[in-house]
Amino acid sequence: MKEFLIASNNQHKVVELNRILNPLGINAVTPQECGVDLGDVEETGTTFAENAEIKAMSAYKKTSMPTVADDSGLMVDALDGRPGVYSARYAGENATDKDRYTKLLTEMKDVPDDKRTAHFVSSICCILDDKTIIKVEGTVEGKIAYEPKGEDGFGYDPVFITKSGKTFAQLSSDEKDAISHRGNALRKLKEEIIKYI
Ligand code: IMP
Repeated sequence: MKEFLIASNNQHKVVELNRILNPLGINAVTPQECGVDLGDVEETGTTFAENAEIKAMSAYKKTSMPTVADDSGLMVDALDGRPGVYSARYAGENATDKDRYTKLLTEMKDVPDDKRTAHFVSSICCILDDKTIIKVEGTVEGKIAYEPKGEDGFGYDPVFITKSGKTFAQLSSDEKDAISHRGNALRKLKEEIIKYI
């Protein structure tokens, strides 16, 4: 199996990435697993695509390994697209997932049902070698719940209601992959990578 470095320490993302990359003969390894320290990379971009490229380029420069980086987040229409690129930092540096979605629910408490639309975005940058950079983006539309539901997943999953009426956190991994922003982006990535391997 080919090894690709995932420029992320978010285990949930790594697992989601591997479920889709493994069938291509690609094993996604974390920086820890291949013994490299990527350090803190400042996400200074104003778009998900810019931040994905910043993370991928920094890891590629340090390791020269084929690298995949994802930058993702939740855009809520009633909040003019917030938390957006600040999804991970929405409730401060040391906040938990629960702190973040609780803050979101508080901000959304007076927003009526028909104005609770939102979407997740996943932007992926994959650097195969000095000359080959692949960039793809996937989205998924949904609504913000009034209260958290479901035990699975991570991040804002318990408060993101999908078209099925269930939150992301109430779906199995396979069900989430089939419709998620990251699943959609990775399926596009797969189509592109196939052209090079
Ligand atoms: P990143 O690591 O900078 O891409 O941060 C993305 C943040 O967006 C995560 O910390 C989560 O809070 C949120 N996020 C991204 N993808 C998902 C998802 O699939 N479910 C729930 N939250 C997500």
